[in-house]
Amino acid sequence: MSGVDKQDWIVGAGAPLQGRIRVPGDKSVSHRAIMLASLAEGVSRIDGFLEGEDTRATAAVFQQLGVKIEAPSPQSRIVHGVGLRGLRASADALDCGNAGTGMRLLAGVLAGQAFDTMLIGDASLSKRPMRRVIDPLMTMGAVIDSETGGLPPLRIRGGSALRGIDYELPVASAQVKSALLLAGLYADGDTTVREPHPTRDYTERMLSAFGWPIEFSPGIARVRGGGDGRHALRATDVSVPADFSSAAFFLVAASVIPGSDLTLEAVGMNPRRTGLLHALRMMGADIVESHARNQGGEAVADLRVRAAHLQGIAVPEALVPDMIDEFPALFVAAACASGSTRVSGAAELRVKESDRLATMSAALRALGIRVDESDDGAVIHGCESGRSPFAVDPQSSVVIDSHGDHRIAMAAAIAGQRCRGEFRIGDIANVATSFPGFDTLACGVGFLLREA
Ligand code: S3P
Repeated sequence: MSGVDKQDWIVGAGAPLQGRIRVPGDKSVSHRAIMLASLAEGVSRIDGFLEGEDTRATAAVFQQLGVKIEAPSPQSRIVHGVGLRGLRASADALDCGNAGTGMRLLAGVLAGQAFDTMLIGDASLSKRPMRRVIDPLMTMGAVIDSETGGLPPLRIRGGSALRGIDYELPVASAQVKSALLLAGLYADGDTTVREPHPTRDYTERMLSAFGWPIEFSPGIARVRGGGDGRHALRATDVSVPADFSSAAFFLVAASVIPGSDLTLEAVGMNPRRTGLLHALRMMGADIVESHARNQGGEAVADLRVRAAHLQGIAVPEALVPDMIDEFPALFVAAACASGSTRVSGAAELRVKESDRLATMSAALRALGIRVDESDDGAVIHGCESGRSPFAVDPQSSVVIDSHGDHRIAMAAAIAGQRCRGEFRIGDIANVATSFPGFDTLACGVGFLLREA
């Protein structure tokens, strides 16, 4: 079954989840691997590359800018790096698709080029705030025009001399941090980025692996300026771990579907990504890590998850940046828990692929769950007993609108597995942006999910 090219799914109560699976490669690492390998001198091989629409869009952008990228087999890329100053102008706009990471990081790279570029995206990306990268990049000397309100498309003027800055991020954002560090490769003087809360550090780790002088510790990163041409990125092979954010849907699903016993193999365990693991354990989840190891410089482990009785919690605000992409899944866990779960300090969820506080609250309400939404979070009132928490009126064909947001569609598919009655999830095509083959993998371990 390959439902990703269809628009809707029908979901309903499936079987307990059983087996061992490996989810696709990490999206954040795959984007960065293409970027740094393209800007490096020499040939890099990427294994475990995410064959998602977002990361393929980033690869296509670099091909358009003159980089030769081969795909010898699925999940592998061979990138013939052109060096920091080897990209070539493209007459056409560069299409980032649905990917905020692609557009924001590219803005940093392109601010340092000698030629003009234009970045565009799909309808969802065209509504996402870019002011957060435009303003600090312009402080570095970049010239960037955007639509009113700082929305894409972004027109980036070439030939600007960049200078390093010392910048304190107003919001915890790995994308903004990364854009500035990448622009720093072209700047005169060091670029320092300070974060209100530490965020994922893949850009820093990968710059270091590619031989660039950089110092970083949680909450601060300083990259040596490359404006004087004295430094280069050196080609390096990258092994991409399985994406914790994709594994997250199965961690929640196996926790809330009675009788489940599922193992997820070789999941990326970077501590800046695993906040959901802590939150689920606080709720009483039974998740055991084994075979912890290092894969190409990143920590990975196998995760065995068995169904457990979950209890509502107040999610610590300090965990929010470490689980920023996992709230759609957490909302479903909360609805299946006894008592209520409180989320706060998560206003960033309003500017993701959809307004995730609004879309998840609406989705759970449509399934009979009480949710009190606030500006920066929500209180989800879970079910009181072990019964199926979600219900639909058999006469009505309840449709959960994913608003084209991949993570809302997958979270709703988990809820379906605990529902009395079937319902339809609309607008699921974007699941392919981050998790191609989700439907096949999910059905293989017990989900009831089919194309509408
Ligand atoms: C990402 C950072 C996060 C995350 C996104 C991927 C990255 O966004 O939500 O899915 O790869 O740097 P923000 O940095 O905007 O929080």
